[in-house]
Amino acid sequence: MKQHLVIFDTTLRDGEQSPGASMTREEKIRVARQLEKMRVDVIEAGFAAASPGDFESIQAIAHAIKDSTICSLARANENDINRAGEAIRPAKSGRIHTFIATSPIHMEKKLRMTPDQVVEQAVKSIGWARQYTDDIEFSAEDAGRSEIDFLCRIFEAVIKAGATTINVPDTVGYAIPFQYAETMRQLIERVPNSDNVVWSVHCHNDLGLAVSNSLAAVLAGARQVECTINGLGERAGNAALEEVVMAVRTRPDVFELETRIDTTQIVPASKLISQITGYPVQPNKAVVGANAFAHESGIHQDGVLKHRETYEIMRAQDVGWSQNKLVLGKHSGRNAFKSRLQELGIELDSDEAVNAAFARFKELADRKHEIFDEDLHALVSDEVVTPDQEHYKLLYSHVCSETGEMPHAKVILSVGGVEQKGEAGGGGPVDATFKAIESIVNSGAELMLYSVNAITTGTDAQGEVTTRLTKADRVVNGNGADTDIVIASARSYLNALNKLHSSLDKVKAQGDV
Ligand code: KIV
Ligand code: ZN
Repeated sequence: MKQHLVIFDTTLRDGEQSPGASMTREEKIRVARQLEKMRVDVIEAGFAAASPGDFESIQAIAHAIKDSTICSLARANENDINRAGEAIRPAKSGRIHTFIATSPIHMEKKLRMTPDQVVEQAVKSIGWARQYTDDIEFSAEDAGRSEIDFLCRIFEAVIKAGATTINVPDTVGYAIPFQYAETMRQLIERVPNSDNVVWSVHCHNDLGLAVSNSLAAVLAGARQVECTINGLGERAGNAALEEVVMAVRTRPDVFELETRIDTTQIVPASKLISQITGYPVQPNKAVVGANAFAHESGIHQDGVLKHRETYEIMRAQDVGWSQNKLVLGKHSGRNAFKSRLQELGIELDSDEAVNAAFARFKELADRKHEIFDEDLHALVSDEVVTPDQEHYKLLYSHVCSETGEMPHAKVILSVGGVEQKGEAGGGGPVDATFKAIESIVNSGAELMLYSVNAITTGTDAQGEVTTRLTKADRVVNGNGADTDIVIASARSYLNALNKLHSSLDKVKAQGDV
């Protein structure tokens, strides 16, 4: 019997700590649903004490998700733990993840606490957490630079106090695989009652070693890996979930372990995260990059055609790459459209939303004769915005762009249900359109990122635009897709403005942990 490897996803917590990757509550719920569908064991849904927005998102996720454990991070203090405990209360299965730093540099310079005080605080925290749940994870922050004797001491104490998962984070991405594995091996050997807890790893990618370190620790006995979709995360990111899971699955000769991940949900999860956060996936990224299964050289193509396994160690469809097949055309009816959405696992919550998406599909099919699954994903993601979040709506857009002339744009927006017109010139058609929108809205927001990606191939492909705006300490990402990239840009800009406007969208200061 293979042992189980727990997959702990922290995209919604550590992943969200990537600069500009903040997500609204609705977006977090969408991500959590996708993670549940992918069958991750634990979803770290946020850091409840960081902001009221984080707290409410964790609570909403705890209500919505039934098949994954919902976890909140908490510093080792009573207030953080109470907030985490309250936030996970609605969960069918809830976990509190508390942490305190254990490296000499962190204890002395950051916490200004002695090692004895750190142990005492850690033990007290487990006691506070036990009022809410028996599923308690303890992390020794900066374990990668901590002294092994001190780690043994603090882990022994927290296990005695009731911690059930012991996490050994390489917080600053300093570890080297063989050393990290040796640390894990020694901890498991030396800490009393180590076989009563799950040993966990949490690696950052500062030296590009997060996945290697995680896997090395797994071989040394760790049975939980903390990771994120697309390797999103603080600074250089965390270990990428898709790489860890596929390494374990592809090399059963090395890892005699199983995960419960439905790997066909990996690519949809990757696309969802990339779309929501505005972090593109590099084409040569393992597993989820656009070129991960593309064979360019003639020798490779010839080999794959003769026998796929000559150059492929995984099958594209096993990680969720679709065949880019033509799914629907302009003559497809509402039922065919609806059932394809269901097959793709896209749930629109009302008939109204299905009708609106279907109308947009018909419009798109008039302009683009081949409609792929990717187009449908982009199309319905616009419908996920509920009407009360759509304070600004694009009713009309016109751009004039001629050689030697300054582009000029006119827009008509619905602002809280009232039609308003604006116009402006700009450096290019997109710039002019944004300025025309601003002539109405006067948002005072600063544009931090504007990016366009073609969703499929061909010059009639939809452009998917991400716009990141900031105002005061709020950062939001807006998305829009259309075959006309000026319109996609306008939608994306308005989507971001709607998020800034929405009172539901909570402030998330970056770098809270
Ligand atoms: O990197 C880290 O140490 C963390 C902890 C809070 C687990 O994210
Ligand atoms: Zn981390």
